[in-house]
Amino acid sequence: MAEFSLPKNSKIQKGAIHRATNAKRARTFSIYRWNSDDGKNPQMDNFEIDLEACGPMVLDALVKIKNEIDPSLTFRRSCREGICGSCAMNIDGTNTLACLKPIEDVKGDIRINPLPHMPVIKDLVPDLSQAYAQYRSVEPWLQSDTPPPPDGERRQSKEERAKMDGMWECILCFCCTTSCPSYWWNGDRYLGPATLLAAYRWIADSRDERTGERLDALQDPFKLYRCHTIMNCTQTCPKGLNPAKAIGEIKTMILERQS
Ligand code: SF4
Ligand code: SF4
Ligand code: FES
Repeated sequence: MAEFSLPKNSKIQKGAIHRATNAKRARTFSIYRWNSDDGKNPQMDNFEIDLEACGPMVLDALVKIKNEIDPSLTFRRSCREGICGSCAMNIDGTNTLACLKPIEDVKGDIRINPLPHMPVIKDLVPDLSQAYAQYRSVEPWLQSDTPPPPDGERRQSKEERAKMDGMWECILCFCCTTSCPSYWWNGDRYLGPATLLAAYRWIADSRDERTGERLDALQDPFKLYRCHTIMNCTQTCPKGLNPAKAIGEIKTMILERQS
């Protein structure tokens, strides 16, 4: 019989409450905690922070909590300016980058969860192994049999170069992929928007000579055609990119070469 509720050991429990003393401007951060080593259910811990003594972004609050309240809080971060993609998480119900999310943009308590529908390694750290393997599978590098010209550069016209705008900026945060319902249900076989955007980045590159092979590899009922243009990916991308459009371009190219 189908089970429609979470297994007992997945149910999220109420966790610890850490109050701020003498706070001038207190805000509560409600944060998902889970540690595979302790055998306990996941829980939401509440941390009250004085915003007068904290930087403006959600990542600033996480760093403050880790430094001053609970050093075991685990999350990824590196650049703190929207470049590395490692601080992707679900904040206030939306996948985004903690370093680019102003605390003031969230009303009420600030709920923070890991990226949805991915296995969790610990706390806010998802296991992205499958997504990285899928990214590798589209061979995201220049492939050409023609040697580069003697001066060492493969030239593009301004128009050819402009075709890649909106794609090279992707920082592989996987906010889009983990917001995509098709990926939630078929993530083992559907490549998801981040990887398909990367695939199209090389298909659209005038210097690449594997366009046909790349399209052949994507012409598959699951890898590409599980996208049903739901558009969550484009709505959530913290870099303002449009993976749904890139997926549409791939579908159009496959259709055109059949006609
Ligand atoms: S447009 Fe496609 S890739 Fe984007 S969320 Fe919808 S189904 Fe997923
Ligand atoms: S398209 Fe946007 S949301 Fe998706 S991985 Fe790239 S930067 Fe992140
Ligand atoms: S810390 Fe690099 S994108 Fe947020």
